[in-house]
Amino acid sequence: MSLLQLEDLVVGYGAFPVLHGVSFTVDEGEVCVLLGLNGAGKTTTVATIAGLVRPWSGSVRFAGGELGHKSPSARVASGISLCPEGRRVFPGLTVQQNLKLGGWTRRKHSGIVRDQLALVFDYFPRLAERSGQLAGTLSGGEQQMLAVGRALMSRPSLLLIDEASLGLSPTVARVVWEVTHRIKADGTTVLMVEQNAGALPYADKALIMEKGTLTYTGVGEQVQQIDLREAYLGA
Ligand SMILES: Nc1ncnc2c1ncn2[C@@H]1O[C@H](COP(=O)(O)OP(=O)(O)O)[C@@H](O)[C@H]1O
Ligand SMILES: [Mg+2]
Repeated sequence: MSLLQLEDLVVGYGAFPVLHGVSFTVDEGEVCVLLGLNGAGKTTTVATIAGLVRPWSGSVRFAGGELGHKSPSARVASGISLCPEGRRVFPGLTVQQNLKLGGWTRRKHSGIVRDQLALVFDYFPRLAERSGQLAGTLSGGEQQMLAVGRALMSRPSLLLIDEASLGLSPTVARVVWEVTHRIKADGTTVLMVEQNAGALPYADKALIMEKGTLTYTGVGEQVQQIDLREAYLGA
């Protein structure tokens, strides 16, 4: 069953269109990777799903309902969470304080916040070790783990991750990508935006975006056999 359905989405800034009619679905229980070069429209896509950008036309359906003009915070409450590009952790707050803020929409359900905190520390033991440390003093990789962890604190059914690997070593990027499989097993569907094709081995479905248009969709075995030169680099 598809959890997320984008249909003929047209989005732009000012008078300039960026997404030219994008349609795809993300099924419940999968890790979907949206691959594209810088400027392809990946961030615009996830920002639209999160409600941070208004589409010009087209629709975004989530869990069977049209999202329409629903506010970003209402979308978080209904189960969509975004781990933004560039991490944007609060440097002057501790790891634990950053995580608690991610659980804001669930603040009246202390059990959920407690469970999610334990889950995040289980996914990323490094964060547990550094729970009292200021986020600004963490390494880039640790800040990325924190950003993913913070997004998980609202217990989303759909987690959007925008360019987790940016600026990280391949080893650290893999640590973050690998966790998506545990996140999926624990019941959260993942849509991951990447420039780095190294994320493909973690994908159940792959989409390739070029200049605001999807040029490739593949599932399962197909994903691991993508001819990147042809599909991605436009060779
Ligand atoms: N806030 C904005 N105002 C104007 N143009 C923007 C804005 N954000 C992105 N763009 C433009 O939209 C295009 C797609 O950007 P983006 O969605 O960030 O791509 P990606 O995440 O794939 O790198 C780029 O040409 C970019 O310059
Ligand atoms: Mg981007």
